[in-house]
Amino acid sequence: MSEIAKLQIGENSYEFPLTKGTENEVAIDIKTLRGATNGVITIDRGFKNTGSCESEITFLDGEKGVLRYRGYSIEELAEKADFLEVAYALIFGNLPTQEQLNKFHADIKSKSVVDDDIKKILDAFPKTAHPMGVLSSLTSALTAFNPSSVNVDSEEDMYNSIVKILGKFPVLVSWTMRKKQGLPLNYGSTSLGYVENILKMMFEQPNESYEISPIIKDALDKLLILHADHEQNCSTSTVRIVGSSHAGLFASLSAGISALWGPLHGGANQAVLEMLEAIKADGGDTKKYMAKAKDKNDPFRLMGFGHRVYKNFDPRARIIKKAADEVLNDLGIEDPILDIAKGLEQEALSDPYFVDRKLYPNVDFYSGIIYRAMGIPVEMFTVMFALGRLPGWIAQWKEMRLNKEPIGRPRQVYTGENLRSFVEIENR
Ligand code: ACO
Repeated sequence: MSEIAKLQIGENSYEFPLTKGTENEVAIDIKTLRGATNGVITIDRGFKNTGSCESEITFLDGEKGVLRYRGYSIEELAEKADFLEVAYALIFGNLPTQEQLNKFHADIKSKSVVDDDIKKILDAFPKTAHPMGVLSSLTSALTAFNPSSVNVDSEEDMYNSIVKILGKFPVLVSWTMRKKQGLPLNYGSTSLGYVENILKMMFEQPNESYEISPIIKDALDKLLILHADHEQNCSTSTVRIVGSSHAGLFASLSAGISALWGPLHGGANQAVLEMLEAIKADGGDTKKYMAKAKDKNDPFRLMGFGHRVYKNFDPRARIIKKAADEVLNDLGIEDPILDIAKGLEQEALSDPYFVDRKLYPNVDFYSGIIYRAMGIPVEMFTVMFALGRLPGWIAQWKEMRLNKEPIGRPRQVYTGENLRSFVEIENR
Protein backbone atom coordinates (compact mmCIF):
# COMPACT_ATOMS: atom_id res chain seq x y z
CA MET A 1 0.00 0.00 0.00
CA SER A 2 1.21 3.49 -0.80
CA GLU A 3 2.19 5.42 2.34
CA ILE A 4 0.30 8.46 1.10
CA ALA A 5 -3.41 9.32 0.88
CA LYS A 6 -4.40 11.66 -1.94
CA LEU A 7 -7.29 14.09 -1.70
CA GLN A 8 -8.73 15.99 -4.63
CA ILE A 9 -10.82 19.10 -3.94
CA GLY A 10 -11.84 20.75 -7.22
CA GLU A 11 -8.65 21.49 -9.15
CA ASN A 12 -6.34 21.01 -6.20
CA SER A 13 -4.85 17.78 -4.93
CA TYR A 14 -3.31 17.22 -1.54
CA GLU A 15 -1.28 14.43 0.00
CA PHE A 16 -1.45 13.18 3.57
CA PRO A 17 0.78 10.59 5.22
CA LEU A 18 -0.62 7.29 6.45
CA THR A 19 0.15 6.15 9.93
CA LYS A 20 0.12 2.49 10.93
CA GLY A 21 -0.39 0.86 14.33
CA THR A 22 1.39 -2.25 15.64
CA GLU A 23 -1.60 -4.36 14.52
CA ASN A 24 -1.41 -2.77 11.05
CA GLU A 25 -4.40 -0.50 11.49
CA VAL A 26 -4.04 2.31 8.99
CA ALA A 27 -5.08 5.93 9.51
CA ILE A 28 -4.77 9.04 7.38
CA ASP A 29 -2.94 11.70 9.34
CA ILE A 30 -4.85 14.89 8.52
CA LYS A 31 -3.21 17.29 10.93
CA THR A 32 -2.17 19.57 8.05
CA LEU A 33 -5.56 19.39 6.29
CA ARG A 34 -7.06 22.68 7.39
CA GLY A 35 -3.93 24.71 6.84
CA ALA A 36 -3.15 23.17 3.44
CA THR A 37 -6.69 23.44 2.08
CA ASN A 38 -7.48 26.90 3.37
CA GLY A 39 -10.04 25.87 5.97
CA VAL A 40 -11.50 22.52 4.85
CA ILE A 41 -12.21 20.14 7.72
CA THR A 42 -13.60 16.62 7.99
CA ILE A 43 -17.02 15.91 9.43
CA ASP A 44 -17.79 12.58 11.03
CA ARG A 45 -20.91 12.45 13.19
CA GLY A 46 -20.42 10.12 16.14
CA PHE A 47 -16.70 9.84 15.23
CA LYS A 48 -17.41 6.59 13.41
CA ASN A 49 -14.26 6.96 11.28
CA THR A 50 -12.14 9.20 13.45
CA GLY A 51 -9.23 8.17 15.62
CA SER A 52 -8.77 10.62 18.48
CA CYS A 53 -5.36 9.41 19.61
CA GLU A 54 -2.65 6.79 19.32
CA SER A 55 -2.79 4.46 22.29
CA GLU A 56 -0.77 1.52 23.61
CA ILE A 57 -3.37 0.31 26.08
CA THR A 58 -6.14 -1.72 24.46
CA PHE A 59 -6.45 -3.37 21.07
CA LEU A 60 -9.74 -4.46 19.66
CA ASP A 61 -10.68 -5.83 16.29
CA GLY A 62 -14.45 -5.59 15.94
CA GLU A 63 -14.58 -7.70 12.79
CA LYS A 64 -12.72 -10.62 14.36
CA GLY A 65 -14.07 -10.20 17.91
CA VAL A 66 -10.61 -9.64 19.43
CA LEU A 67 -9.99 -7.71 22.65
CA ARG A 68 -6.59 -7.39 24.32
CA TYR A 69 -5.32 -5.26 27.20
CA ARG A 70 -1.62 -4.40 26.81
CA GLY A 71 -1.34 -7.34 24.39
CA TYR A 72 -2.91 -9.94 26.73
CA SER A 73 -6.09 -11.57 25.39
CA ILE A 74 -9.28 -10.91 27.33
CA GLU A 75 -10.01 -14.64 27.40
CA GLU A 76 -6.69 -15.40 29.13
CA LEU A 77 -6.98 -12.50 31.56
CA ALA A 78 -10.55 -13.44 32.52
CA GLU A 79 -9.45 -16.99 33.19
CA LYS A 80 -6.11 -16.48 34.93
CA ALA A 81 -5.73 -12.97 36.32
CA ASP A 82 -7.32 -11.09 39.17
CA PHE A 83 -8.74 -7.60 38.82
CA LEU A 84 -5.93 -5.79 40.62
CA GLU A 85 -3.28 -7.40 38.39
CA VAL A 86 -5.26 -6.33 35.34
CA ALA A 87 -5.62 -2.81 36.74
CA TYR A 88 -1.85 -2.66 37.23
CA ALA A 89 -1.17 -3.91 33.71
CA LEU A 90 -3.57 -1.38 32.18
CA ILE A 91 -2.16 1.53 34.13
CA PHE A 92 1.56 0.68 34.07
CA GLY A 93 1.91 -1.37 30.89
CA ASN A 94 2.88 -4.86 32.10
CA LEU A 95 1.54 -7.49 34.48
CA PRO A 96 3.11 -6.86 37.90
CA THR A 97 5.59 -9.07 39.72
CA GLN A 98 4.33 -10.28 43.11
CA GLU A 99 6.43 -7.59 44.77
CA GLN A 100 5.04 -4.83 42.55
CA LEU A 101 1.50 -6.06 43.14
CA ASN A 102 1.99 -6.15 46.92
CA LYS A 103 3.32 -2.60 46.95
CA PHE A 104 0.51 -1.39 44.68
CA HIS A 105 -2.13 -2.97 46.89
CA ALA A 106 -0.48 -1.67 50.09
CA ASP A 107 -0.38 1.87 48.64
CA ILE A 108 -4.05 1.65 47.62
CA LYS A 109 -5.07 0.44 51.07
CA SER A 110 -3.08 3.19 52.76
CA LYS A 111 -5.10 5.81 50.83
CA SER A 112 -8.52 4.21 51.05
CA VAL A 113 -9.96 6.26 53.92
CA VAL A 114 -12.52 8.79 52.67
CA ASP A 115 -12.92 12.08 54.55
CA ASP A 116 -15.84 11.65 56.92
CA ASP A 117 -17.38 14.91 55.69
CA ILE A 118 -18.16 13.18 52.37
CA LYS A 119 -20.89 11.43 54.34
CA LYS A 120 -22.61 14.79 54.81
CA ILE A 121 -22.77 15.23 51.04
CA LEU A 122 -24.09 11.70 50.64
CA ASP A 123 -26.70 12.35 53.32
CA ALA A 124 -28.05 15.31 51.37
CA PHE A 125 -29.09 13.08 48.44
CA PRO A 126 -32.61 11.66 48.50
CA LYS A 127 -32.74 7.88 48.78
CA THR A 128 -34.43 7.84 45.38
CA ALA A 129 -31.38 9.41 43.66
CA HIS A 130 -29.88 7.23 40.94
CA PRO A 131 -26.58 5.76 42.21
CA MET A 132 -24.72 6.90 39.07
CA GLY A 133 -25.59 10.54 39.76
CA VAL A 134 -24.52 10.13 43.38
CA LEU A 135 -21.26 8.41 42.43
CA SER A 136 -20.39 11.03 39.84
CA SER A 137 -21.02 13.82 42.38
CA LEU A 138 -19.05 12.15 45.16
CA THR A 139 -16.12 11.43 42.84
CA SER A 140 -16.04 15.07 41.83
CA ALA A 141 -16.37 16.11 45.50
CA LEU A 142 -13.28 14.06 46.35
CA THR A 143 -11.26 16.73 44.53
CA ALA A 144 -12.24 19.28 47.19
CA PHE A 145 -10.91 16.99 49.91
CA ASN A 146 -7.75 16.11 47.95
CA PRO A 147 -6.71 19.33 46.19
CA SER A 148 -3.22 17.96 45.51
CA SER A 149 -4.80 15.51 43.04
CA VAL A 150 -5.43 18.34 40.55
CA ASN A 151 -1.95 19.52 39.66
CA VAL A 152 -0.07 16.43 38.64
CA ASP A 153 3.28 17.90 37.73
CA SER A 154 5.33 14.85 38.60
CA GLU A 155 5.07 11.09 38.21
CA GLU A 156 4.84 10.92 42.00
CA ASP A 157 1.78 13.21 42.13
CA MET A 158 0.22 11.12 39.42
CA TYR A 159 0.92 7.85 41.23
CA ASN A 160 -0.54 9.24 44.46
CA SER A 161 -3.73 10.37 42.71
CA ILE A 162 -4.06 6.96 41.07
CA VAL A 163 -3.72 4.91 44.27
CA LYS A 164 -5.98 7.34 46.10
CA ILE A 165 -8.85 6.93 43.69
CA LEU A 166 -8.38 3.16 43.45
CA GLY A 167 -8.63 3.06 47.25
CA LYS A 168 -11.50 5.50 47.73
CA PHE A 169 -13.73 4.66 44.75
CA PRO A 170 -14.91 1.24 46.04
CA VAL A 171 -15.75 2.93 49.35
CA LEU A 172 -17.92 5.46 47.51
CA VAL A 173 -19.55 2.65 45.52
CA SER A 174 -20.41 0.75 48.68
CA TRP A 175 -21.64 3.87 50.51
CA THR A 176 -23.85 4.77 47.54
CA MET A 177 -25.52 1.37 47.72
CA ARG A 178 -25.72 1.21 51.52
CA LYS A 179 -27.26 4.65 51.78
CA LYS A 180 -30.05 3.56 49.43
CA GLN A 181 -30.60 0.48 51.53
CA GLY A 182 -30.53 2.34 54.85
CA LEU A 183 -27.45 0.42 56.03
CA PRO A 184 -24.64 1.96 58.11
CA LEU A 185 -21.64 3.01 56.04
CA ASN A 186 -18.54 0.90 56.52
CA TYR A 187 -14.95 0.51 55.33
CA GLY A 188 -14.37 -3.21 55.00
CA SER A 189 -10.95 -4.39 56.04
CA THR A 190 -7.38 -3.86 54.85
CA SER A 191 -6.69 -7.53 55.59
CA LEU A 192 -8.72 -8.55 52.54
CA GLY A 193 -7.93 -8.68 48.84
CA TYR A 194 -9.18 -5.78 46.70
CA VAL A 195 -12.24 -7.60 45.32
CA GLU A 196 -13.03 -9.44 48.57
CA ASN A 197 -13.04 -6.10 50.34
CA ILE A 198 -15.47 -4.64 47.78
CA LEU A 199 -17.90 -7.47 48.56
CA LYS A 200 -17.53 -7.02 52.30
CA MET A 201 -18.05 -3.27 52.04
CA MET A 202 -21.16 -3.73 49.95
CA PHE A 203 -22.87 -6.64 51.62
CA GLU A 204 -21.84 -6.85 55.28
CA GLN A 205 -24.85 -6.52 57.57
CA PRO A 206 -24.44 -4.64 60.85
CA ASN A 207 -25.46 -7.61 62.98
CA GLU A 208 -23.60 -10.54 61.43
CA SER A 209 -20.14 -11.31 60.10
CA TYR A 210 -19.85 -11.52 56.32
CA GLU A 211 -18.61 -14.76 54.77
CA ILE A 212 -17.13 -14.23 51.32
CA SER A 213 -18.42 -16.76 48.80
CA PRO A 214 -15.58 -17.87 46.49
CA ILE A 215 -18.10 -18.29 43.66
CA ILE A 216 -19.28 -14.70 43.98
CA LYS A 217 -15.74 -13.37 44.43
CA ASP A 218 -14.55 -15.16 41.26
CA ALA A 219 -17.57 -13.96 39.30
CA LEU A 220 -17.04 -10.36 40.39
CA ASP A 221 -13.32 -10.55 39.57
CA LYS A 222 -14.21 -11.75 36.09
CA LEU A 223 -16.89 -9.12 35.50
CA LEU A 224 -14.59 -6.31 36.61
CA ILE A 225 -11.80 -7.58 34.35
CA LEU A 226 -14.14 -7.80 31.37
CA HIS A 227 -15.21 -4.19 31.88
CA ALA A 228 -11.77 -2.79 32.70
CA ASP A 229 -11.05 -1.04 29.41
CA HIS A 230 -12.42 -0.74 25.91
CA GLU A 231 -10.27 1.82 24.11
CA GLN A 232 -11.91 5.08 22.95
CA ASN A 233 -15.56 4.47 23.88
CA CYS A 234 -17.89 7.30 24.93
CA SER A 235 -16.93 7.48 28.63
CA THR A 236 -13.20 6.98 28.02
CA SER A 237 -13.16 9.65 25.34
CA THR A 238 -14.94 11.89 27.84
CA VAL A 239 -12.31 11.22 30.51
CA ARG A 240 -9.52 11.98 28.02
CA ILE A 241 -11.13 15.12 26.68
CA VAL A 242 -11.93 16.55 30.12
CA GLY A 243 -8.41 15.66 31.27
CA SER A 244 -6.96 17.32 28.15
CA SER A 245 -7.89 20.71 29.66
CA HIS A 246 -5.68 19.64 32.62
CA ALA A 247 -8.68 19.14 34.87
CA GLY A 248 -7.65 16.75 37.63
CA LEU A 249 -8.05 13.00 37.56
CA PHE A 250 -11.07 12.87 39.86
CA ALA A 251 -12.97 15.56 37.91
CA SER A 252 -12.20 13.75 34.64
CA LEU A 253 -13.43 10.46 36.11
CA SER A 254 -16.59 12.11 37.38
CA ALA A 255 -17.36 13.23 33.81
CA GLY A 256 -16.64 9.69 32.58
CA ILE A 257 -19.14 8.28 35.09
CA SER A 258 -21.81 10.64 33.73
CA ALA A 259 -21.05 9.53 30.17
CA LEU A 260 -21.24 5.87 31.18
CA TRP A 261 -24.65 6.38 32.79
CA GLY A 262 -26.59 6.63 29.51
CA PRO A 263 -28.58 3.59 28.32
CA LEU A 264 -26.73 3.49 24.99
CA HIS A 265 -23.49 2.94 26.91
CA GLY A 266 -23.00 1.49 30.43
CA GLY A 267 -26.60 2.13 31.42
CA ALA A 268 -27.54 -0.68 29.03
CA ASN A 269 -26.93 -3.33 31.71
CA GLN A 270 -29.74 -1.88 33.83
CA ALA A 271 -31.90 -1.38 30.73
CA VAL A 272 -31.37 -5.04 29.69
CA LEU A 273 -32.59 -6.39 32.98
CA GLU A 274 -35.58 -4.05 33.02
CA MET A 275 -36.38 -5.13 29.45
CA LEU A 276 -36.13 -8.84 30.33
CA GLU A 277 -38.36 -8.27 33.37
CA ALA A 278 -40.90 -6.43 31.21
CA ILE A 279 -40.92 -9.30 28.70
CA LYS A 280 -41.44 -11.78 31.53
CA ALA A 281 -44.26 -9.72 33.03
CA ASP A 282 -45.83 -9.55 29.57
CA GLY A 283 -46.04 -13.34 29.34
CA GLY A 284 -42.53 -14.03 27.99
CA ASP A 285 -43.49 -13.36 24.37
CA THR A 286 -40.01 -12.71 22.91
CA LYS A 287 -41.37 -12.58 19.34
CA LYS A 288 -43.46 -9.52 20.19
CA TYR A 289 -40.34 -7.67 21.41
CA MET A 290 -38.30 -8.80 18.44
CA ALA A 291 -40.96 -7.27 16.20
CA LYS A 292 -40.91 -4.04 18.21
CA ALA A 293 -37.11 -3.84 17.92
CA LYS A 294 -37.35 -4.17 14.14
CA ASP A 295 -40.21 -1.68 13.74
CA LYS A 296 -38.70 1.64 12.65
CA ASN A 297 -41.76 3.49 13.99
CA ASP A 298 -41.18 2.07 17.47
CA PRO A 299 -38.33 3.60 19.51
CA PHE A 300 -37.79 0.26 21.31
CA ARG A 301 -34.35 -1.30 20.80
CA LEU A 302 -33.24 -4.70 21.92
CA MET A 303 -31.05 -3.56 24.80
CA GLY A 304 -27.75 -5.40 25.11
CA PHE A 305 -27.61 -5.90 21.34
CA GLY A 306 -25.37 -4.15 18.86
CA HIS A 307 -22.06 -2.43 19.26
CA ARG A 308 -20.33 0.44 17.55
CA VAL A 309 -17.17 -1.59 17.02
CA TYR A 310 -18.00 -5.31 17.29
CA LYS A 311 -19.61 -6.44 14.07
CA ASN A 312 -19.08 -10.16 14.54
CA PHE A 313 -19.40 -10.93 18.23
CA ASP A 314 -18.39 -9.31 21.48
CA PRO A 315 -15.79 -11.62 23.08
CA ARG A 316 -16.80 -10.37 26.52
CA ALA A 317 -20.41 -11.45 25.92
CA ARG A 318 -19.27 -15.03 25.24
CA ILE A 319 -17.30 -15.18 28.49
CA ILE A 320 -20.15 -13.59 30.46
CA LYS A 321 -22.79 -15.91 29.03
CA LYS A 322 -20.75 -18.91 30.17
CA ALA A 323 -20.12 -17.29 33.57
CA ALA A 324 -23.86 -16.58 34.00
CA ASP A 325 -24.63 -20.27 33.50
CA GLU A 326 -21.89 -21.32 35.92
CA VAL A 327 -22.70 -18.79 38.64
CA LEU A 328 -26.43 -19.52 38.64
CA ASN A 329 -25.71 -23.21 38.65
CA ASP A 330 -23.14 -22.98 41.46
CA LEU A 331 -25.43 -20.82 43.56
CA GLY A 332 -28.39 -23.08 42.83
CA ILE A 333 -30.45 -20.23 41.36
CA GLU A 334 -33.02 -20.78 38.64
CA ASP A 335 -33.75 -17.49 36.96
CA PRO A 336 -36.41 -17.47 34.22
CA ILE A 337 -34.86 -14.24 32.98
CA LEU A 338 -31.81 -16.23 31.81
CA ASP A 339 -34.05 -18.42 29.67
CA ILE A 340 -35.75 -15.36 28.17
CA ALA A 341 -32.32 -13.86 27.41
CA LYS A 342 -31.14 -17.05 25.72
CA GLY A 343 -34.38 -17.25 23.74
CA LEU A 344 -34.00 -13.67 22.50
CA GLU A 345 -30.38 -14.28 21.56
CA GLN A 346 -31.31 -17.42 19.65
CA GLU A 347 -34.03 -15.64 17.70
CA ALA A 348 -31.89 -12.61 16.95
CA LEU A 349 -28.99 -14.71 15.68
CA SER A 350 -31.19 -16.20 12.98
CA ASP A 351 -33.21 -13.09 12.16
CA PRO A 352 -32.19 -11.29 8.95
CA TYR A 353 -32.73 -7.84 10.55
CA PHE A 354 -30.11 -8.55 13.20
CA VAL A 355 -27.85 -10.65 10.96
CA ASP A 356 -27.77 -8.05 8.16
CA ARG A 357 -26.95 -5.24 10.61
CA LYS A 358 -24.41 -7.42 12.42
CA LEU A 359 -26.17 -7.00 15.75
CA TYR A 360 -24.93 -9.44 18.39
CA PRO A 361 -25.24 -9.58 22.19
CA ASN A 362 -22.80 -7.16 23.81
CA VAL A 363 -21.09 -7.22 27.21
CA ASP A 364 -24.22 -5.92 28.91
CA PHE A 365 -26.64 -8.57 27.71
CA TYR A 366 -25.83 -11.19 30.36
CA SER A 367 -23.91 -9.21 33.01
CA GLY A 368 -27.06 -8.05 34.83
CA ILE A 369 -28.18 -11.64 35.31
CA ILE A 370 -24.95 -12.35 37.23
CA TYR A 371 -25.16 -9.11 39.21
CA ARG A 372 -28.69 -9.96 40.22
CA ALA A 373 -27.66 -13.47 41.30
CA MET A 374 -25.01 -11.83 43.50
CA GLY A 375 -27.67 -9.73 45.22
CA ILE A 376 -26.75 -6.42 43.59
CA PRO A 377 -29.77 -4.13 43.04
CA VAL A 378 -30.59 -3.32 39.41
CA GLU A 379 -29.90 0.40 39.84
CA MET A 380 -26.35 -0.45 40.94
CA PHE A 381 -25.48 -2.38 37.77
CA THR A 382 -24.00 0.60 35.95
CA VAL A 383 -22.09 1.53 39.09
CA MET A 384 -20.50 -1.94 38.97
CA PHE A 385 -19.52 -1.23 35.38
CA ALA A 386 -17.89 2.02 36.52
CA LEU A 387 -16.00 0.12 39.22
CA GLY A 388 -14.62 -2.21 36.57
CA ARG A 389 -13.87 0.58 34.08
CA LEU A 390 -11.97 2.67 36.65
CA PRO A 391 -8.48 1.32 35.83
CA GLY A 392 -9.11 1.76 32.11
CA TRP A 393 -10.15 5.38 32.57
CA ILE A 394 -7.10 5.98 34.77
CA ALA A 395 -4.75 4.34 32.26
CA GLN A 396 -6.17 6.39 29.39
CA TRP A 397 -6.03 9.64 31.36
CA LYS A 398 -2.43 8.93 32.40
CA GLU A 399 -1.40 8.12 28.83
CA MET A 400 -3.04 11.31 27.57
CA ARG A 401 -1.23 13.44 30.17
CA LEU A 402 2.16 11.75 29.72
CA ASN A 403 1.90 12.07 25.93
CA LYS A 404 1.24 15.79 26.47
CA GLU A 405 -1.76 15.66 24.19
CA PRO A 406 -3.23 19.03 23.18
CA ILE A 407 -6.59 20.14 24.51
CA GLY A 408 -9.41 18.26 22.76
CA ARG A 409 -11.39 20.74 20.73
CA PRO A 410 -13.28 19.51 17.65
CA ARG A 411 -14.47 21.88 14.94
CA GLN A 412 -17.90 22.11 13.33
CA VAL A 413 -19.66 23.04 10.13
CA TYR A 414 -21.93 25.96 11.01
CA THR A 415 -25.46 25.61 9.57
CA GLY A 416 -27.24 28.49 11.35
CA GLU A 417 -28.39 31.96 10.27
CA ASN A 418 -26.07 34.27 8.37
CA LEU A 419 -25.41 37.75 9.78
CA ARG A 420 -28.64 39.57 10.56
CA SER A 421 -29.49 42.80 12.36
CA PHE A 422 -30.68 43.06 15.92
CA VAL A 423 -34.42 43.88 16.08
CA GLU A 424 -35.71 45.87 19.06
CA ILE A 425 -38.01 43.78 21.26
CA GLU A 426 -41.09 45.87 20.49
CA ASN A 427 -40.58 45.27 16.76
CA ARG A 428 -40.22 41.46 16.89
N1 ACO B 1 -32.09 -3.09 18.48
C1 ACO B 1 -32.65 -2.86 17.27
N2 ACO B 1 -32.03 -2.26 16.24
C2 ACO B 1 -30.77 -1.86 16.43
C3 ACO B 1 -30.09 -2.05 17.67
C4 ACO B 1 -30.80 -2.69 18.72
N3 ACO B 1 -30.23 -2.91 19.89
N4 ACO B 1 -28.84 -1.53 17.59
C5 ACO B 1 -28.72 -1.04 16.34
N5 ACO B 1 -29.88 -1.23 15.64
C6 ACO B 1 -30.13 -0.88 14.23
C7 ACO B 1 -30.33 0.62 14.06
O1 ACO B 1 -31.71 0.94 14.16
C8 ACO B 1 -29.77 0.84 12.68
O2 ACO B 1 -30.71 0.33 11.76
P1 ACO B 1 -30.85 1.05 10.29
O3 ACO B 1 -29.51 0.84 9.63
O4 ACO B 1 -31.98 0.33 9.65
O5 ACO B 1 -31.14 2.50 10.57
C9 ACO B 1 -28.58 -0.11 12.62
O6 ACO B 1 -28.92 -1.19 13.53
C10 ACO B 1 -27.26 0.52 13.04
O7 ACO B 1 -27.42 1.10 14.35
P2 ACO B 1 -26.71 2.41 14.86
O8 ACO B 1 -27.49 2.97 16.00
O9 ACO B 1 -26.42 3.30 13.69
O10 ACO B 1 -25.32 1.83 15.36
P3 ACO B 1 -24.31 2.56 16.32
O11 ACO B 1 -22.99 1.96 16.08
O12 ACO B 1 -24.45 4.05 16.20
O13 ACO B 1 -24.86 2.19 17.80
C11 ACO B 1 -25.27 1.04 19.81
C12 ACO B 1 -24.35 1.18 18.59
C13 ACO B 1 -25.50 2.41 20.47
C14 ACO B 1 -24.59 0.14 20.84
C15 ACO B 1 -26.64 0.45 19.35
O14 ACO B 1 -26.42 -0.83 18.78
C16 ACO B 1 -27.65 0.35 20.50
O15 ACO B 1 -28.37 1.32 20.75
N6 ACO B 1 -27.73 -0.83 21.20
C17 ACO B 1 -28.61 -0.97 22.33
C18 ACO B 1 -27.99 -0.33 23.58
C19 ACO B 1 -26.83 -1.12 24.13
O16 ACO B 1 -26.89 -2.34 24.30
N7 ACO B 1 -25.74 -0.39 24.46
C20 ACO B 1 -24.54 -0.98 25.08
C21 ACO B 1 -23.39 -0.94 24.13
S1 ACO B 1 -22.00 -1.76 24.81
C22 ACO B 1 -21.38 -0.67 25.89
O17 ACO B 1 -21.47 0.52 25.79
C23 ACO B 1 -20.72 -1.22 27.04
